[in-house]
Amino acid sequence: MNALLIMVSFASLSLAATSPPSFSALNATISGRLQAATPFALPCFTKFNNITVEVDEEACAIVQANYLKPALRLDVFGANINPQWEGCQSTLSRCLLNPSNPQDVTAFEGASCNQGEIPQFYIDVSTPADVQAAFAFSAESNIPLSIKNTGHDYFGRTRREGSLGIWTHHLDSMTFNPHFTPESCTGTFRAITIGAGVTFDQVYNFADANNSTFVGGYAESIGASGGWLMGGGHSVLSPVYGLGVDRVLEFKIVTPDGVYRTANACQNPDLFWALRGGGGATFGVVIESTHLVEKTLSFQVATIAYNPAAAQAQEFWEIVVNNSLSWGEAGWGGHINSGGLTYVNPLVSLAEAKESFQQIAAFAVANGGTATFQTMKSWLPFYEQAVIPKEAPSGELVVLGSRLIPQTNFATPAGRAQLVQLMLNQTAAAGFPNIPVTTPVRFTFTEGATSVTPAWRGALWHLVTTALLSYNSTIQDLQATYTKVHDVVDMMRAVAPDSGSYFNEGEPYETNPPESYWGSENHARLLQIKQKYDPKHLLNCWNCVGSTDESTFPCYPGLTP
Ligand SMILES: Cc1cc2nc3c(=O)[nH]c(=O)nc-3n(C[C@H](O)[C@H](O)[C@H](O)COP(=O)(O)OP(=O)(O)OC[C@H]3O[C@@H](n4cnc5c(N)ncnc54)[C@H](O)[C@@H]3O)c2cc1C
Ligand SMILES: *[C@@H]1O[C@H](CO)[C@@H](O)[C@H](O)[C@H]1NC(C)=O
Ligand SMILES: *[C@@H]1O[C@H](CO)[C@@H](O)[C@H](O)[C@H]1NC(C)=O
Ligand SMILES: *[C@@H]1O[C@H](CO)[C@@H](O)[C@H](O)[C@H]1NC(C)=O
Ligand SMILES: *[C@@H]1O[C@H](CO)[C@@H](O)[C@H](O)[C@H]1NC(C)=O
Ligand SMILES: *[C@@H]1O[C@H](CO)[C@@H](O)[C@H](O)[C@H]1NC(C)=O
Ligand SMILES: *[C@@H]1O[C@H](CO)[C@@H](O)[C@H](O)[C@H]1NC(C)=O
Ligand SMILES: *[C@@H]1O[C@H](CO)[C@@H](O)[C@H](O)[C@H]1NC(C)=O
Repeated sequence: MNALLIMVSFASLSLAATSPPSFSALNATISGRLQAATPFALPCFTKFNNITVEVDEEACAIVQANYLKPALRLDVFGANINPQWEGCQSTLSRCLLNPSNPQDVTAFEGASCNQGEIPQFYIDVSTPADVQAAFAFSAESNIPLSIKNTGHDYFGRTRREGSLGIWTHHLDSMTFNPHFTPESCTGTFRAITIGAGVTFDQVYNFADANNSTFVGGYAESIGASGGWLMGGGHSVLSPVYGLGVDRVLEFKIVTPDGVYRTANACQNPDLFWALRGGGGATFGVVIESTHLVEKTLSFQVATIAYNPAAAQAQEFWEIVVNNSLSWGEAGWGGHINSGGLTYVNPLVSLAEAKESFQQIAAFAVANGGTATFQTMKSWLPFYEQAVIPKEAPSGELVVLGSRLIPQTNFATPAGRAQLVQLMLNQTAAAGFPNIPVTTPVRFTFTEGATSVTPAWRGALWHLVTTALLSYNSTIQDLQATYTKVHDVVDMMRAVAPDSGSYFNEGEPYETNPPESYWGSENHARLLQIKQKYDPKHLLNCWNCVGSTDESTFPCYPGLTP
């Protein structure tokens, strides 16, 4: 059945193209690396695009068993970590299991699995030439392009209606060089160069084996070189060591004009600046990136666990908010969520750690919780102990929104009282807040070196809210959930109106994306650089630099009218 569908698709798509080359010619150009894509959960369904198909019991059982884990999703082009982006939400064309129970037959028995937004064809990239062929094909055929790496993206930027997909997942090279010099530059750096498909799990293990620490995010399966990096890239070590964009030394990238370029401080510096915060899927397809790494580093870990149901929320938030500025100034970074706090700091002793967290530790213990302090000799065991078990879910239909909360809000009693009230209001509206404390508070940055919103530099919290969609949401349910997240972010915007938000974890319906994600000055320059390297506007994504209006993206569901 697959072969038949592919032939039908070839015929219709080739006819739709305004001029040659056809998909089969493209496939020949790239040595057969063009692949057909189907939805992740298809093996469980009895219909595909309304046509009766045979259920593949064995493959279905594998999908069900792995539905909520990132590893298999990563290896399948047709899967996203937040699978609402596999479907076309506005038309409810989708192919989803029930994430609360992947065995729930009501999701798939007698139901049709639909292609949704998943491209029918994608290029499994192995060389820059594959990407050059994709740009040439798109320019000639007017078929749009989309770029997928791991599929973690929170607002659908890996998918685009009717596109040819570009998949960077198999670019998995890694090299360590203690004396790396960016091309045409001087000076040497301890550095790791990674292919665009490399994940944190891969680079954390590789760096550890080479007595190094890669400063990266709180999940195994995010790409270290793709969207995470180009959108900013925060880590619990960022308060001391900076964001991903502060640490990248060089990119190798195919720009949409078809040129394979090196971008660093000495070559194509305008492009280098744009890639340091301007976002993925905008200035080209990154093939590899080189990152500054630290020598193996030792740090303190404070883990505060308590039962929020048993404790006074007001008192909890007062303690957290009252102490946050001094924690930040001391170099602590971490996460606050409904289970408590996990903070790390490479700058203090174990005794200093205990002293800093005395008040919250006493609170936790008084409320049936625990406070644990540990010295870690390196990043990898912390990653295995704390990050993997606590990473955000895969396979759930997460909607996320956020705002960077400035240090100044924490500096006065009135500001702190307002933040405590915000935490209580947010909890009442949308559940317990999730707060990555990952802003570069102690990091000495070079003014003008990156294009992320300047709000990152003055912020203390990256305040996040989340909500879940159902696999069988109606259009009204979808709109209501995106609206709820939007309204909660409005509460955050009200307390931090002049701040910004993190491009990779912004809400899909951010009020003023250019101002919020980059600031108007950076955004104006980013637009010029976009025009220079992508004059035909071959790359386009939702709320990205140079993105076109909503009519170009017909699958977004909209807010409640
Ligand atoms: C479970 C989870 C945990 C997270 N934790 C963190 C965290 O700790 N810190 C943090 O900063 N963020 C975190 N994020 C957000 C994360 O940074 C973004 O989702 C990011 O976009 C992922 O990038 P990716 O390349 O892995 O994913 P993808 O979804 O594949 O790509 C993201 C965007 O980048 C583009 N892109 C990807 N590869 C390339 C390439 N080679 N060239 C050009 N464009 C490309 C895509 O087109 C898309 O627009 C988390 C997300 C999830 C789902
Ligand atoms: C592209 O060519 C390869 C090798 O000939 C083949 O295996 C693959 O199925 C082709 N792709 C498509 C979409 O037909
Ligand atoms: C499948 O059927 C539904 C309901 O009849 C229709 O709305 C939809 O467009 C069809 N989808 C495809 C892919 O044919
Ligand atoms: C350390 O880096 C070198 C150089 O890139 C690499 O060849 C080697 O495999 C790495 N060591 C380990 C144990 O991963
Ligand atoms: C890492 O450091 C240890 C201890 O100093 C040393 O024995 C080992 O050779 C180093 N490994 C690499 C790959 O440099
Ligand atoms: C937090 O600080 C305020 C002063 O800004 C103080 O009134 C309040 O008691 C403190 N809360 C706790 C729980 O320590
Ligand atoms: C919290 O909610 C109350 C009641 O709606 C409102 O008056 C107040 O302004 C809100 N405060 C914040 C900081 O969101
Ligand atoms: C969605 O699915 C759940 C569980 O399978 C079911 O209880 C509910 O009625 C469904 N809702 C809609 C709108 O179909």
